[in-house]
Order: sequence, then structure tokens, then C-alpha cells
Amino acid sequence: MENQVGSGLSIDYTGMMNSQQNPSGFTKEELQNFQNELDQAQTLLEARRNAGEIDFSKLLVSMQTQIPEIVEYANTVASKFENFVVLGIGGSALGPLAVHQALNHYYYNELPPEKRGNRPRFYVVDNIDPVRFNELLKMLDPRKTLFNVISKSGNTSETMAQFLIVRDTLRQVCGDSYAEHIVATTDKEKGNLLPIALKEGFQRFVIPAGIGGRFSELTPVGLLAAAVCGIDINQLLEGALSMDQWIREKQGVFSNPAQLRVALAHLSWQKGKNISVFMPYADGLKTMADWYAQLWAESLGKRYDRQGRVVHVGQTPVKALGVTDQHSQVQLYVEGPDDKVITFVVVERFKETQEIPSVLEELPEDIQFLRGRTLEELLFAEQKATEYALTIAGRHHQKIILPSLDAYSVGQLLLLLEWETAYMGELLNINAFDQPGVEEGKNGTYALMGRKGYEAKRHEIEEYGNTWYTINRIE
Ligand code: PA5
Repeated sequence: MENQVGSGLSIDYTGMMNSQQNPSGFTKEELQNFQNELDQAQTLLEARRNAGEIDFSKLLVSMQTQIPEIVEYANTVASKFENFVVLGIGGSALGPLAVHQALNHYYYNELPPEKRGNRPRFYVVDNIDPVRFNELLKMLDPRKTLFNVISKSGNTSETMAQFLIVRDTLRQVCGDSYAEHIVATTDKEKGNLLPIALKEGFQRFVIPAGIGGRFSELTPVGLLAAAVCGIDINQLLEGALSMDQWIREKQGVFSNPAQLRVALAHLSWQKGKNISVFMPYADGLKTMADWYAQLWAESLGKRYDRQGRVVHVGQTPVKALGVTDQHSQVQLYVEGPDDKVITFVVVERFKETQEIPSVLEELPEDIQFLRGRTLEELLFAEQKATEYALTIAGRHHQKIILPSLDAYSVGQLLLLLEWETAYMGELLNINAFDQPGVEEGKNGTYALMGRKGYEAKRHEIEEYGNTWYTINRIE
């Protein structure tokens, strides 16, 4: 069973459906019967889109008009700098990283400059591990480095701390020209990064108002980094737009990919599948799994529904990589608790092929079968075999198929997952676009670090922070 458009992405959901081997799968009638809920969700989503609440879809066209400006700037800095470093976290880091890994050479940074189109090396520093940050700053020559500080709110402690360290280093090393080494991507009107950027004359890009971090990859958050590293952002947006159109224009669970995926996700969740495993079979999509995990977790893990009732909903995302995790997690998926839905992401044509030599005639019989085959044949066989193992164990799985790992397909994949998340939010009757649980942690950090206005919170945390139960090192 495939849901397909043109030469783009398709979905094979056979592993979710009822069959002799998988009697616990869904029937077509069950999916059809869910159409009413989907239609209601679609109406609500369209209304939110028109009201500017879900601008990730609405802004794709205006982003296209910004491409020349982004590309022109990207090309200018690409010829001036040897390193491009993103300072950001969460939605301000995972998208740029995922797209870079999906579309650029696996060893991009290690390539000689001419083999990466004379473009800068690319780093994303999301965490604030002092060792990693320090080692990066010592390794890179700040005079040859451009730092892209990305923060929608302009307030996030991690990003602001990194920014302050970098700004100080640049001022010491580059003197008056330090501002030429910083580009700020932030809100047009709000936050603390904006006034600094304006005052100090940093190049600026705007994150449009109605877009939260995890939905912002196809804004300057991700587009600038991609363009600097030579990715065709036009194709990325083309792919995204084609998916947007498909989802918004095609009606019905069997023709609309977001409706199909979310119907299966929601029906599974109702049957106790509390875990959503995202398992690409391509190293290039490994960090896409990180991006998806944030999108699904932060958008859908909510305490209150839209009427303020306590609901505690959400499905836990799990990141896996095929075939690597066949040797780590698949045992659990096949034989452990039946609480998961597994999404494989498969790339039909890899950009390289790797043959397994057939020269050695004297091989032991049991590995003869590998001779003259290719690594991709082996990978596809392993993926298929894992599907089969899951099917006969009665486990739910489906497959997103990308014809190849190219900018167009990646754009399609991003939009499919964003729409699916938005749909799931409506079906769960929660706000998929806020993150109060994260804000609580952010506020607690401000309090503990002594930010003005957070004194009461600090007191509250310190009260709670008394340690009662510990087990100590044996002296
Ligand atoms: O998706 C989100 O909204 C979050 O993950 C944010 O991107 C993250 O907390 C960083 O926030 P900001 O971009 O405001 O610095």
C-alpha cells in the first residue's frame, strides 16, 4: 500500500494494516471511520493558518522571495570565512544540523576546501559543555570564522552565554572589525539579541513572528546555514512547497500523507502505542531523527488541553538508525512491550554505490553470498528483513520512502513531519506550538543564575533543592 505523488516521497503503510500475518493491524474501514476527526482537524488547522498561528506553511512562499538575498549574503561570506559556526539550541540548532548532514558530504569538514566548493567548514554548537566549547574556540581561528547566533526569543541562556563568550573573544582578536564576524538570526521586534545586534551593527536575518523554533528550519534559521554550505535552498523550498500543497489540497486519509500518518499515529496511540520510533536507513538522516524527536516531543507532550483540563498526553519519540540499531534496539521492538510504532525512512537510490569484491574465491561457504553484491543491497535486505520480523511479531511499522537524499525530498520530508505534528496537536486537542514545560526550566535557570526579577523563583527552587536521600562513595 503506497501513497505517492510524482517522483517525490511516498509512504508504505502495509505494516500498519490488518493481514494474516498481522491481525492486530488496522482495517481500511477503521481508517475511513477516522475521516471525520481528520476533517475537523483540517478545518481547525486551516483556521489557525489563516489566523497566522501556523506560519510554517504560510511563509514558504515569502521565504522563496528571500532566497536571492540569503544566497547573495551566503556566497559573500563563504568566500571570506573558513569556518561557519551556528550558536543556538533546540529548534535553532537541530534543523540546520539535520539538513547539513542529509545533503552534504559525510566528511564535509575534513574535505580540502576545493572539494567542498571552497565553502566554510560547518559547526553547530548547541550544548554548553565547557570542554567542547573551549576546544572549539581554541581550534578555530576567530579571524577566519563567522558565528551565526540564532535565537527566536533572544533570551535563551545557553545561546546568550555562548554569544557573550564569542563576542568577547572576537573583540580581543579582531578589534573593531569583530562585528563582521557575527550574524544574528532572531525576531524582528523582540528579545535581547536584537538591540545588541542593532547597536553593534551585526548582519541580521529575521525569524518570522508566527514560527516557533522547531518549525523554523525553512526560515533563515536553516536556510542561511544551508546556503553557506552550498545546499540548493531553492530545491529545499520547492520540495517543502510541493508537500504543503499536497497536504492542503488533497482530501482523505488514503490520499493525504499527513492525514494518513496522523490517523495511524493516533489510532495506534489509542491502542497503547506510546512510543514513536523514527528509524532512517541512511546515515545522512541520523540527525533528522533528532530533529523529529524534538518536534514530536516538544509539540505534543502537554499537561493541559485547549480547555485547560489536565490531560498529560504525548507519544515518546525514540531515535534509531538502521542498520546500526538492529544490533542494539530491534530486539526490544520485536519482542519487548508492544507499545511502539516504527517509522522506517528509506532512501531508494544512494548517491554512491559500494560493491563488495568478488575476488576471493576461497571464502568460507557461509560468507560467499556477499561476493559481488553491494552495500546498499545488504542494507535494503536488512531493512526488509527487519520489517518482516516486526510483521510476524504483530508489531506496527510503516515506511517513508525518499527516491534519493536530495534537497527536494528533504524539503518534502520536513513539511510532512511538521504537518503531521500540527494535525496530531489538533487530534489531541492541545496547543502544539508552545512549550510551557521548557519555559519552566528556562525560568528556573534564570533564577538560579541570579537574573533580576526571578528572586522568588530562586527561593522556591532553593527550598526544594535540599538533598535528603543520597548514596555516597565508599570511603
Ligand atoms: O522549538 C522551540 O521553540 C525550542 O526548542 C527553541 O528553539 C529553543 O528553546 C531555543 O529557543 P530560542 O530560539 O528562542 O533561543
